[in-house]
Amino acid sequence: MTASHDVVIVGGGGAGLRAAIAIAEHDPRSSIAIVSKVYPMRSHTVSAEGGAAAVAGPGDSLDEHAYDTVSGSDWLCDQDAVEAFVEEAPRELLRLEHWGCPWSRRPDGHIAVRAFGGMKNNRTWFAADKTGFHLLHTLFQTALSYQDIVRYDEWFATTLLVDDGKVCGIVAIELATGRVETILASAVIVCTGGCGRVYPFTTNANINTGDGMALAYRAGAPLKDMEFVQYHPTGLPFTGILITEAARAEGGWLLNKDGYRYLQDYDLGTPSPEPVMRSMELGPRDRLSQAFVHELDKGRTIGTPYGHVVHLDLRHLGADLIDTKLPFVRELCSKYQNIDPVRELIPVRPVVHYMMGGIHTDINGATPVEGLYSVGETACVSINGANRLGSNSLPELLVFGARAGRAAAEYASSVTARETSAVLARGRAEQDRLERDLTRRAEGSERIAHIRSEMQETLETSAGIYRDGDSLAKGADKVRELRDRFGRAGLDDHSRAFNTELVAVLELSCMLEVAECIIACALAREESRGAHQRTDFPARNDERFLAHSMIHRQPDGSSRVSYLPVTITRWPPGERVYGR
Ligand code: FUM
Repeated sequence: MTASHDVVIVGGGGAGLRAAIAIAEHDPRSSIAIVSKVYPMRSHTVSAEGGAAAVAGPGDSLDEHAYDTVSGSDWLCDQDAVEAFVEEAPRELLRLEHWGCPWSRRPDGHIAVRAFGGMKNNRTWFAADKTGFHLLHTLFQTALSYQDIVRYDEWFATTLLVDDGKVCGIVAIELATGRVETILASAVIVCTGGCGRVYPFTTNANINTGDGMALAYRAGAPLKDMEFVQYHPTGLPFTGILITEAARAEGGWLLNKDGYRYLQDYDLGTPSPEPVMRSMELGPRDRLSQAFVHELDKGRTIGTPYGHVVHLDLRHLGADLIDTKLPFVRELCSKYQNIDPVRELIPVRPVVHYMMGGIHTDINGATPVEGLYSVGETACVSINGANRLGSNSLPELLVFGARAGRAAAEYASSVTARETSAVLARGRAEQDRLERDLTRRAEGSERIAHIRSEMQETLETSAGIYRDGDSLAKGADKVRELRDRFGRAGLDDHSRAFNTELVAVLELSCMLEVAECIIACALAREESRGAHQRTDFPARNDERFLAHSMIHRQPDGSSRVSYLPVTITRWPPGERVYGR
């Protein structure tokens, strides 16, 4: 069976929903499909808990938001994209207000804003500490009001169909039945989120397996800046559950085993009596995660059965503030750590949170493959460069979701639908491939779970907070070996309905592809910048590497890394200065 739409959106989180609404508004006659492997409200957008950054009024400016973003990125972002982003972000957040987002407010009724890491002014709008949840909810309920947005909930996209260099649809499996279907489209927007699950310890949901990145890469779109993996400084040990940066924005302290605010030793500022500081605990995430490693090396962290931790101290904030502004933090600590942050210290450690890299796009989400667009964490537009500032990701998916939606709608209306025999044959070939794979894997000798955990351990040891050439080269060899073994991975479940083992195979194939790209790009970048710290090349090297890494898949399945100059408009490379 074959379905057909003007635009197919793969991924039903914040980016996909924003893009869908933009298309529906732009061209009410468009037929739009959202294909998502989970029900949209289960998407990972909820994990951006602390807020969404946008200039909210006097005392702040677009230039200051832009500069914080550029310097936070260690000058690796594209400044034209950043300028568009900061300008359009306030309008997007106001639009959400009109669609029903319950932004927290000051007593005088104005939108409340809080400080956030690496930002010199308070500009993070929030809805208590459940911002991502409310944003997703608002977008979902708004999307529901458009009849022309059709949803394929719990469908897994296995490939992008490309004919004559142009994208023309996808093939996807309906998970409830195992039915495989070709879904034709004039344009496809990929927004499947990040790939944190390639690492063993992450804030990311189980669904964040880099599917969209792998699909686009296989279809001929290069991935950009894949070596830049963000560790969030405060995850709960064992579960990796995020304790939002908002906890530090509201005045929380990070303490080592001696109860000492160790960040004052790391060029991030000095302790201040003010409840909200611009430094130390509100330094950028890359620097805070690196400081944790130094404390560990100095023997000043606390050993637990689930690895070393430091403490996040909120006790001085009091129950009223915590219940008003950080209720989710209290709930998570109680449910998953069995502690009450009003009275007890929270054990935390750095945890993989976000991919700065992703599918290479232009400022409107267009990839080099005609008709293929991407937005959100899956994409690299790029405003985050070598280190994303917390609370920039939600406005990013709104601003560029809207842009990609409009661009895809325009493109789709300018081309004739591609229901050719060649395209349909490609769809059938993918269906046959999936069928053959299912049969072949009945005999497979390798276990999916073993390959997956070995991959995760490999990424952590070779491409963690600090890396070097030797460990990366060993990591590259190991991932090659794992890919080879993956070919022999077996399936015990041969049923069609909700075959979660089959989903695990599909996800693992994507993760291995993405893992290989992360390591290859990290090996090629012989410098340290932002979240990419090479102990064998400890300095930033603008002469060689003020450029995006671009990894391309070769016809034989191997990869090639090239570089693309960074776009500089108004802020020449400088020093990142915090807390002075
Ligand atoms: O800590 C947080 O609330 C995360 C926010 C973000 O990643 O933007």
